[in-house]
Amino acid sequence: MKVGIVGCGAIANIITNFAVEDKLGVELKFFYDKDIERAENLATLVDGTAVFDIEDMLDKVDLIIEAAAPDAVEKVIPPILERGINVIIMSVGALMNFELKNRLEKLAIENDAKIYIPSGAIVGLDGMKAASIGKIKKVTLVTRKPPRSLGISTDEKKVLFEGTASEAVKKFPLNINVAAALSIASNMDIDVKIVVDPSVDRNLHEVKVIGDFGEFKTSTENMRCSMNPKTSVMAAYSAVKLLKSFNENMIVGT
Ligand SMILES: NC(=O)c1ccc[n+]([C@@H]2O[C@H](COP(=O)([O-])OP(=O)(O)OC[C@H]3O[C@@H](n4cnc5c(N)ncnc54)[C@H](O)[C@@H]3O)[C@@H](O)[C@H]2O)c1
Repeated sequence: MKVGIVGCGAIANIITNFAVEDKLGVELKFFYDKDIERAENLATLVDGTAVFDIEDMLDKVDLIIEAAAPDAVEKVIPPILERGINVIIMSVGALMNFELKNRLEKLAIENDAKIYIPSGAIVGLDGMKAASIGKIKKVTLVTRKPPRSLGISTDEKKVLFEGTASEAVKKFPLNINVAAALSIASNMDIDVKIVVDPSVDRNLHEVKVIGDFGEFKTSTENMRCSMNPKTSVMAAYSAVKLLKSFNENMIVGT
């Protein structure tokens, strides 16, 4: 499977390093970034090609990974789906714009393409998907991050936000992909609390789900990417695992 990547930052770097070690199971061939130097740097690592325009890779790939930014999704994804090419969307917060989400889903259906949303920085999406077969009553997410991860500077622990995921995504678009993934998987606008906490070193997510299946709680303490402290290493790993799973014959988890 030939793969292209849009957005050559922290997540793309980790994915590409797996390709360098031949541990990805797919051929990472094309790289696009609005900063061409970033695309060139990654392309060099795997003998790939940096392109100046996404159009230049569309005829040559089976799948494109979006790892750019929420505002890139609306521009970049439609032409990919129109060509019937599968996509992995990392900037899942963009899909809290339900009009955009529905439009992309319709394009995927019309062009027989698939949209993959990896579990990203969260654990428990497998359980959430299974739970959604029954009735989910309540989903809450508490995200606790050090100031650097939220792009602010403070010595004080405080609640920055309490409300629904769709409101949170507007205020913290680069930080709240987890809330978006949980909302999409549960088909609910979940309850979110965002806390800045100078005493923590990792990005922490606590999820509680109550449904007719019972309840579950998950807790994740994520290491941050050295290249981008807003992003957790686990998010990149989830994309790598998804890519590897395309070649696996036994799939575990929903
Ligand atoms: N699903 C999750 O759980 C999860 C977790 C972490 C990050 N993310 C999201 O994944 C995306 C990538 O994260 P990252 O840490 O690699 O980001 P990053 O900032 O390290 O890298 C993003 C790269 O994309 C490029 N870019 C931005 N907008 C672009 C555009 N319109 N066209 C082309 N290139 C563009 C930038 O120049 C940069 O090189 C972000 O949107 C982030 O919010 C998702």
